[in-house]
Amino acid sequence: MSIDYTERIPNNVDLAGDRRLQRALESWQPRFLQWWGEMGPALPTQDVYLRTAVDVGRAGWAHFDRVRLPDYRWGIFLAERDPDRRIAFGQHQGEPVWQQVPGEHRASLQRLIVVQGDTEPASVEQQRRLGLTAPSLYDLRNLFQVNVEEGRHLWAMVYLLHAYFGRSGRDEAEALLLRNSGSEDSPRILGAFNEETPDWLSFFMFTYFTDRDGKYQLGTLKESAFDPLSRTCEFMLKEEAHHMFVGTTGVDRVVERTAQLMREHDTDDIARHGGIPLPVIQKYLNFHYSVSLDLFGGETSTNVANYYSSGLKGRWQEERRGDDHVLTSAVTTIERPGGERIVSVELPALTALNHDLRTAYIGDCETGVTRWNRILDSHGITGHRLALPHVGFNRKVGAFAGCHVTPGGRVVDAATWAAGRPAWLPAPADKAHVESLMRPVYEPGKIAAWLAPPRSGINGQPLDYEYVRF
Ligand SMILES: [Fe+2]
Ligand SMILES: [Fe+2]
Repeated sequence: MSIDYTERIPNNVDLAGDRRLQRALESWQPRFLQWWGEMGPALPTQDVYLRTAVDVGRAGWAHFDRVRLPDYRWGIFLAERDPDRRIAFGQHQGEPVWQQVPGEHRASLQRLIVVQGDTEPASVEQQRRLGLTAPSLYDLRNLFQVNVEEGRHLWAMVYLLHAYFGRSGRDEAEALLLRNSGSEDSPRILGAFNEETPDWLSFFMFTYFTDRDGKYQLGTLKESAFDPLSRTCEFMLKEEAHHMFVGTTGVDRVVERTAQLMREHDTDDIARHGGIPLPVIQKYLNFHYSVSLDLFGGETSTNVANYYSSGLKGRWQEERRGDDHVLTSAVTTIERPGGERIVSVELPALTALNHDLRTAYIGDCETGVTRWNRILDSHGITGHRLALPHVGFNRKVGAFAGCHVTPGGRVVDAATWAAGRPAWLPAPADKAHVESLMRPVYEPGKIAAWLAPPRSGINGQPLDYEYVRF
């Protein structure tokens, strides 16, 4: 079903057939636009070369055009319904999926949707000022693309709250615009979404590591027995792929430029040549990876076990798993601190589902590190390696919270941690250096000196295309 763009809220959920819901969402829309004006991109622009979702089918779903940012058509798009879809796991395995929310799961489902929904506008807020220092028009356009789509993901969750959760859903939809990233009084729900994204190295790390957490969370909700949630998440994952691309290739290009400068000047100390030294890249990686691991919650959770058994939230690629999809007798091994050491313990798989998801995520993160090291190799730089820090490093949530673990995985005391910290996490001097490189480059085809140009343009456009007009 193609989407009618003459409607106030483009959608493929037959909004026109439900006047009450349509009116409710139409009254939420001006509040969203006000939030976008206040908390969205701070850089004024005339228009941006953006893709807009126009269909959810396999044959091309996006349309590219120049758009004024506030005129972007944020809409509600669910992946096509599979009339034969059945629940793939838990106690209700094999039963038809739910088109309505079962009363007994109302509160839990609403909470899952609110937590997911809260992250979407948070990242827009975190990235609000980045446009002021964009390293190229190409990158600026990608930033805005990510921003408008995170805005649409908020719409996706708000639609579910309005359509399926009555009064309390509408109140929660309201509250999603009232919390703000980093706010003292009403911060965003999850820690990583209250951290700043003050520079473009942070932005690329965020889109690599934190957006990737989003991909995994959406992957579990896509398995949900609540079919509208599943279909919403399935379509969001399509848009999310571009966010991953921005992160992966963004870090690629930083590493590439760093390697070039190291060769050119025959030194590791490339800060004075306008580059970002490898140890600084490693520290940013350490930070963003560790705060993103916190987003997976504690290693063990009986809530999550219940979500699984009752069909609310599945595992990553549930249907490709070769087990019984009930997990009542399965066990798994997790690492956790045991005094001075890190020990392995065996636990019921059902209570360790956060750990299961985190493990899939870590495997995915490794692929980035491998490709960045390959870039170093290709420049003949063999003495340095980027690496993911130990899973216990710099953690605030879960088994490692409150314990000091080095990037290499050694449990240390507070004094050793404090002494090592400047070498492990971005120190004030590192941040100041990165910040000093953040100067806007708005000339078509030009690019800041601290990162390599992209390999190709967007949607077949040349690199010197005017992706953003002022
Ligand atoms: Fe998102
Ligand atoms: Fe995203």
